[in-house]
Amino acid sequence: METNRKDDHIKYALKYQSPYNSFDDMELIHRSLPDYDLDEIDLSTQFLGMDFDFPFYINAMTGGSQKGAEINQKLAQLAEATGIIMVTGSYSAALKDPTDTSFQVKKHHPNLTLGTNIGIDKDYKLGLRAVEEMVPAFLQVHVNLMQELLMPEGERHFRSWKENLADYAKHMPVPVMLKEVGFGLDLKTMETAYDLGFRAFDISGRGGTSFAYIENERGGDRSFLNEWGQTTVQALLNAQPMMTKADVLASGGVRHPLDMIKCLVLGAKAVGLSKTVLELVETKPIEEAVATVNGWKDDLRLIMCALNCQKVSDLNKVDYMLYGKLNYLKKEDIKN
Ligand code: FNR
Repeated sequence: METNRKDDHIKYALKYQSPYNSFDDMELIHRSLPDYDLDEIDLSTQFLGMDFDFPFYINAMTGGSQKGAEINQKLAQLAEATGIIMVTGSYSAALKDPTDTSFQVKKHHPNLTLGTNIGIDKDYKLGLRAVEEMVPAFLQVHVNLMQELLMPEGERHFRSWKENLADYAKHMPVPVMLKEVGFGLDLKTMETAYDLGFRAFDISGRGGTSFAYIENERGGDRSFLNEWGQTTVQALLNAQPMMTKADVLASGGVRHPLDMIKCLVLGAKAVGLSKTVLELVETKPIEEAVATVNGWKDDLRLIMCALNCQKVSDLNKVDYMLYGKLNYLKKEDIKN
């Protein structure tokens, strides 16, 4: 099994504290007089043509090492006990080593709703194998250009990526989504992927885990790129033209239920958490982690009540204010 690289990701993801989180520059306008009782609030959501009970999920993280295997079992236990989706880390480690069992979480957690993940540099035939072996509800295809560029052993050829995108859209037997890894998907990339057949995106923006930081800690010397990419709120604002024609999901720096709600207000169908959940299962006994996640559901209902929203889709109508770094000018806004 591959050990060092995957374990480094976990170690440095837990160590990093982003200097800026865009959710802090967004404020929601509350409603003092609601139309609903608390027990009328409905947390269910829909994306990729499927119904889900809760609008948040454990996003792609690990697998491919002993530590990764242990973490995957804990994440699976947490997800199964709370009824949320778990997405495994990139399945490529298991494709390289058929004896790798670190992704096999369904055996002990048969009621788990599972997604799996693969890099865009992998030919779609490898994606088909991942789907056959994991039987996931959906497949995330990740783009991680800056991470590859910063890794000494990273990919240097990118011309095949668009072709691979088209193949993934065409050939997968389960729904696919395109996903960033914490640098924020840009609108042009989403439009290209849309034209090639993708109908779902996890914009995964900056504000939480930084793979630039991780690679710099692993021996790189380009720490000036640690804050590369767009923040999660910025990426969601930029993604607005996609909201009506595709399912946009959000992740990156989500710390608690209020951050989740802000993503849903900006049009996300669901919200992914990686580092926050990693920290939870690494620092707390599983029973406490389960209680925390179940508490998040109550918190979401409470906040939705205070915003006068009965359904997740109502959140899209909530007014908000943007401060600080989100008070920006785009090139097209600047009048000469
Ligand atoms: C990740 N992430 C990730 N993403 C992906 O698409 N495939 C992968 O294999 C991994 N591996 C991985 C390992 C670890 C330890 C972490 C913390 C993260 C990225 C992840 O899914 C997410 O996009 C970012 O981490 C941003 O979210 P957070 O961590 O800020 O909530």
